[in-house]
Amino acid sequence: MAELDWREIVYQQPQPELDGSVQEGGYGHVRQPGVDLSHGVALYLDDISVSFDGFRALNKLSLSLNVGELRCIIGPNGAGKTTMMDVVTGKTRPDSGSAFFGQTIDLLKLREAEVVAAGVGRKFQKPTVFEDLSVQDNLELALKADKRARATLFFRLSAAQRQRVGAVLEQIRLHDQAGRRAGDLSHGQKQWLEIGMLLMLEPQLLLLDEPVAGMTDFETDRTAELFVSLAGKHTLMVVEHDMDFVRKIADKVTVLHEGSVLAEGSLDQVQADERVVEVYLGR
Ligand SMILES: Nc1ncnc2c1ncn2[C@@H]1O[C@H](COP(=O)(O)OP(=O)(O)OP(=O)(O)O)[C@@H](O)[C@H]1O
Ligand SMILES: [Mg+2]
Repeated sequence: MAELDWREIVYQQPQPELDGSVQEGGYGHVRQPGVDLSHGVALYLDDISVSFDGFRALNKLSLSLNVGELRCIIGPNGAGKTTMMDVVTGKTRPDSGSAFFGQTIDLLKLREAEVVAAGVGRKFQKPTVFEDLSVQDNLELALKADKRARATLFFRLSAAQRQRVGAVLEQIRLHDQAGRRAGDLSHGQKQWLEIGMLLMLEPQLLLLDEPVAGMTDFETDRTAELFVSLAGKHTLMVVEHDMDFVRKIADKVTVLHEGSVLAEGSLDQVQADERVVEVYLGR
């Protein structure tokens, strides 16, 4: 028997609604017909500009990520790193430029929820887990995504989904904390849980904005291991100021400055770049 793909299961299984009716196509986050990664490019940003009241937060920014790569984005405060993620996720519309997810998905035409449905997961800096729910319930809830307003009591997990919850619990190192109230986790564990909630939706592209800020050294090291293990299966864009962390995970590094790419290359290469030292690392 061919191996079942969890996404297909979610996609195909009709789910009974509270009123007994059966809704076509499963959960609210049912993904759009797949992202086309056949040319090896996961994210393609070209000539993107964003202005806020005349101030150019992004200035003809061009950048692309290959499928499965783990890209670190560094640069001084106000360089435009978060704004770039806002553009990718549909939160901010650029004044000009183009943004594609895979070959065919024009991100600038999608609303935020549609970007998520297409397979882009975003982690904001502050953890946003459901504090009063258990770790496990948080992960299960993530499956229901935008239908979380519906009563959870009648939600039944398929065997494949239960397996998925177990696998993600292991990945984020919370398998021995599954029953714990999320609000009682450490800051780092909450961050992992939120990453786990993103992983439940099996995003192709993960955007992580300062994921280790406020973590202990131990938590930071475990997070580095997690990200390295996610690369290949997912494409990751990681914004961080913590250069020790960046050194642990970095493959290719992009330095943003004043809304555009200042330098790109291995961490050693960009660290040796005088312009980079001048605007960022030398401070
Ligand atoms: N909604 C907004 N309205 C006005 N200005 C904004 C808005 N969002 C961002 N900016 C400005 O755009 C610039 C880029 O901000 P952005 O948050 O993208 O920087 P960043 O590289 O993420 O910085 P940091 O490392 O501090 O997080 C900053 O000068 C910021 O003040
Ligand atoms: Mg930022």
